[in-house]
Amino acid sequence: MVVCICNAIREKDLRAAAKKGASTPCSAYQQMGCKPRCGQCVSFAREIIQSETATA
Ligand code: FES
Repeated sequence: MVVCICNAIREKDLRAAAKKGASTPCSAYQQMGCKPRCGQCVSFAREIIQSETATA
């Protein structure tokens, strides 16, 4: 599933970034060489990162 349409970031990409230490959507996107653009995905991205770090 695509989380961020602007950057074509998928849920599994975000989970992988969270595993590598990204604790916020911004740092996760930076890790992938992107940054939030429209911002619509940020709250959902944050939830995914939180759920990933909660189970890590
Ligand atoms: S959908 Fe992620 S910045 Fe637009």
